[in-house]
Amino acid sequence: MVVGLASDHGGYLLKEDIKNHLEERKIQYIDLGTYSEESVDYPEFGEKAAEAILSGKCDYAIVFCGTGIGISIAANKVPGIRCAVVSDVFSAKMSKAHNNVNILALGGRVIGKGLASEIVDAWLDTEFIGGRHERRVQKIHEVENKYLNKK
Ligand code: RB5
Repeated sequence: MVVGLASDHGGYLLKEDIKNHLEERKIQYIDLGTYSEESVDYPEFGEKAAEAILSGKCDYAIVFCGTGIGISIAANKVPGIRCAVVSDVFSAKMSKAHNNVNILALGGRVIGKGLASEIVDAWLDTEFIGGRHERRVQKIHEVENKYLNKK
């Protein structure tokens, strides 16, 4: 499993913490930037994470901004992406089990590294249940396709 990591300046420090955590767990990652606390625009990094998944470079991605909100909205604009902002362990598990989220978004100014690490573990270690949830996830993408095909 390869995990892509991308952040703006507001999520940069938490991204660095999660890199250390993934290294401890021996999980392979690709750091897609940003590489300092210098101000950047989160949509570019949400797109980079989404693109890394669509190209097959990564299996999953974790994105970070100040709240997790802006970068998750940006990532969700890319067809095929299901990105959720999560601040608790229960939602992290459900986001995989029921929604098969392929990008997890975390707020660097919202949660600390301890909770963030537990959230990442819960999300990575949970399997998608499928069944009726597969049907619902398909319906999400039917909505996406309906509006994509409308010019
Ligand atoms: C940047 O100041 C901040 O707006 C950004 O990190 C994020 O929180 C946006 O949703």
